[in-house]
Amino acid sequence: MAFATLILAAGAGTRMKSNVPKVAHPLLGKALIRWVIDTVHEAECDTVITVVGHGREQLGFLVDDTISVVQEEQCGTGHAVMMARSHLETLKGTTTLLILCGDTPLFTAHTLKCLVATHEVKGADASVLTFIPRDPTGYGRIVRNAEGGIERIVEQKDASEEERAITEVNSGVYCFQLGALLASLDALSTNNAQGEYYLTDTLEQIRTMGGKVQTCLCADANETLGINDRTQLATATALAQQRINKAHMLAGVTMLDPTSVWIGPDVVIESDVEILPLTMLSGETVVGSGSVIGPNTRITDSKIGSLCVVEESILDNVVLENRVTVGPRAYLRPGTVMRNDSRAGTHVEIKKSDIGVGSKVPHLSYIGDAVLGSEVNVGAGTITCNYDGSAKNKTIIGDRSFIGSDTMFVAPVQVGSDVVTGAGSVITRDVPNDALAVERTEQRIVENWVSRNKKD
Ligand code: UD1
Ligand code: CA
Repeated sequence: MAFATLILAAGAGTRMKSNVPKVAHPLLGKALIRWVIDTVHEAECDTVITVVGHGREQLGFLVDDTISVVQEEQCGTGHAVMMARSHLETLKGTTTLLILCGDTPLFTAHTLKCLVATHEVKGADASVLTFIPRDPTGYGRIVRNAEGGIERIVEQKDASEEERAITEVNSGVYCFQLGALLASLDALSTNNAQGEYYLTDTLEQIRTMGGKVQTCLCADANETLGINDRTQLATATALAQQRINKAHMLAGVTMLDPTSVWIGPDVVIESDVEILPLTMLSGETVVGSGSVIGPNTRITDSKIGSLCVVEESILDNVVLENRVTVGPRAYLRPGTVMRNDSRAGTHVEIKKSDIGVGSKVPHLSYIGDAVLGSEVNVGAGTITCNYDGSAKNKTIIGDRSFIGSDTMFVAPVQVGSDVVTGAGSVITRDVPNDALAVERTEQRIVENWVSRNKKD
């Protein structure tokens, strides 16, 4: 089943009232158009062509694994397909073309595969995925003949009173025999209420040329939801959230309240994970078996091992090995690796650092650009002064070292293993293994100072 896909995404999306092109808006952390592209890949599509126009300079990286075609002026869905004509003509060996829109993120690969399969099995020249919405307003209606076959699609704005009463509508997803589609494009005109080239008119044209046109009904109308404004974005988010959370729960993930857990479509969660309320997991995040995440936690593009606990924290591009505990209220930033059995505690920020096996940073610390060996204990309030105003410098601390509270490491600085630093020390020079490093002025005692200074 080799087929190519054309994704229409040139429209302005004016109803989003946004400076960002509509299809770049994120749904559970992933841009709308990426949902569509990734789903067609999942449905085993070989070649993906995207038609872009409005705000295309902001779309670049989102469509860079597709052949992207520019439609400068948006003269309708049929016109968008015409823009891709020369690319479509070069798709030698591919006879089936799936067409869908960049703003309908919820179609499943299963639905798309079914459409392509029925299209091919029936030897159709064009197949339309239809559905029956609660309210058909705004959609193209499916006009059928006496035998029940599809006659044509009529847009809301061109429809007669009777046609508007039709409840079955066009989802905007089609499958074409490529040759038939290309042959029908030339016959399109702008002779309609919107003065646009309608892709939907190709169906009637293909039929007139003797081609076979058929429909497939999409059983789950929720899949067809198109995003035109932000209320629909919220509706789609809720639908995607329900679908994703249900799948995770059925696969062995516990959620105290799935309505307050938001998980991106590409997140992988092993069984026996527990996710507590107000938690968002997004990007390429993986959570290992037996870990407890949340409440009130945001994790992006991170790999969490098994039996970890992450409580009230933010993790972005980090790796936790196994049995790592984080939080409450830690902020782990990109490039942080926490080895087995390590800990980042309360009000701790760690950036681009490697925290060794069993090492602990329990309270109120900033660790940046550092490498900590194993079993290091970092006292409360410790800071790596990694930035000198122009460069970021490294702090290296050896195994089993015991860092006194409020130690400042003025980087670059290297501390050996089994070292002790005195509380409050500012460490500016390297410390050899097994040494005590203490930097403090001597404490002064002024006898009876308090009573002498009493004003009464
Ligand atoms: C279209 C269908 C309608 C169907 C509905 C489903 C036509 C004529 N009508 O209507 O039958 O029920 O989708 O949602 O096709 N686009 C471009 N270039 C253009 C115009 C549109 O790339 O010049 C893209 C848009 O970005 C969008 C998609 O095509 O992703 C659909 O366009 P839109 O204007 O929303 O079509 P509808 O009026 O909703
Ligand atoms: Ca639309």
